[in-house]
Amino acid sequence: MDERIVSPVALQGEKEIENSLRPKSFAEYIGQESVVKNLKVFIQAARERGEPLDHLLLCGPPGLGKTTLANIVAHEMGVNLRSTSGPALERAGDLAAILTNLQMGDILFVDEIHRLPRMVEEVLYPALEDFALDIVIGKGPSARTLKLDIPSFTLVGATTREGLLTSPLRSRFGILSRLDYYHPEDIQKVLERSARVLDIDAEKEGLEQVASRSRGTPRVANRLLKRVRDVAQVEGDGVINPAIAQKALDQLEVDHLGLEGLDRKILGTIVNKFGGGPVGLGTIAAAISEETETVEEVYEPFLLQAGLLQRTPRGRIATDQAYRHLGLELPGDGKRGLFDG
Ligand code: ADE
Repeated sequence: MDERIVSPVALQGEKEIENSLRPKSFAEYIGQESVVKNLKVFIQAARERGEPLDHLLLCGPPGLGKTTLANIVAHEMGVNLRSTSGPALERAGDLAAILTNLQMGDILFVDEIHRLPRMVEEVLYPALEDFALDIVIGKGPSARTLKLDIPSFTLVGATTREGLLTSPLRSRFGILSRLDYYHPEDIQKVLERSARVLDIDAEKEGLEQVASRSRGTPRVANRLLKRVRDVAQVEGDGVINPAIAQKALDQLEVDHLGLEGLDRKILGTIVNKFGGGPVGLGTIAAAISEETETVEEVYEPFLLQAGLLQRTPRGRIATDQAYRHLGLELPGDGKRGLFDG
């Protein structure tokens, strides 16, 4: 029997689904009003002058749409986008190969640009300033430098860790856009759009449930939407209404603030193993068997913004709110939260 459970048409990977949900132009893009408003002006001005857009740095926590925005900027400028990442550019030659293959006005998107190796970063400086590569030919006393012109291009860098960029690199970006967590109304609109694109039957109030637990992050919202749809299909009548959304989110162990297992594990570890802190990030990461970078870049930003965690020079502290959220007694002296970071 070669009966296929998944029809070939439906053999769409999560990646394709994610791509289909990505807005392709500003007209489709929801939220981040001030970033979008500024970018529209800079793009229009560059287009009117027939120049490439100035180099652009996009900063912010994961899942807020830095890659999406880079693609939209390329679309709005009417140019190609070449995509790579900091860790993928291991050697100066890797970057030189990409730069020499760009067409005039193209966008080079470098994700995780804070992880660019130093040698590669140094090759990038003259490329950004003069659209030139300094290539060293030969070794020792006979070594010569050759200046090679490259097409004028726009670098769009994305980072979750703005503070880790060296100042020479940061200062070469003419435009800095910081993305912030989305307002609940915007997440709601993102979900309504995604439900339309994926042909999901959903009530407004059902999507409100999903939106309220999405941590202001479109990537999280879209992931939860797909899982809630699964529950609605298998355990309900296929429609996402408030009751089924609530049931699904409870089953997924996403609480009313949108925290999931690992978020609560981080807070619980600080409280239960380290007396509420202060405790070093590396210690927390080791205690929950996660990478330090993952805790710092993926989980911590929202816990900080939600006021559940505090960063101090001596380490991380679970706030009073974290104790209340976990349903735990506040520590005796009542001083927690007054710690001066
Ligand atoms: N899907 C993910 N992010 C989005 C956004 N900002 N606007 C519209 N759809 C989205």
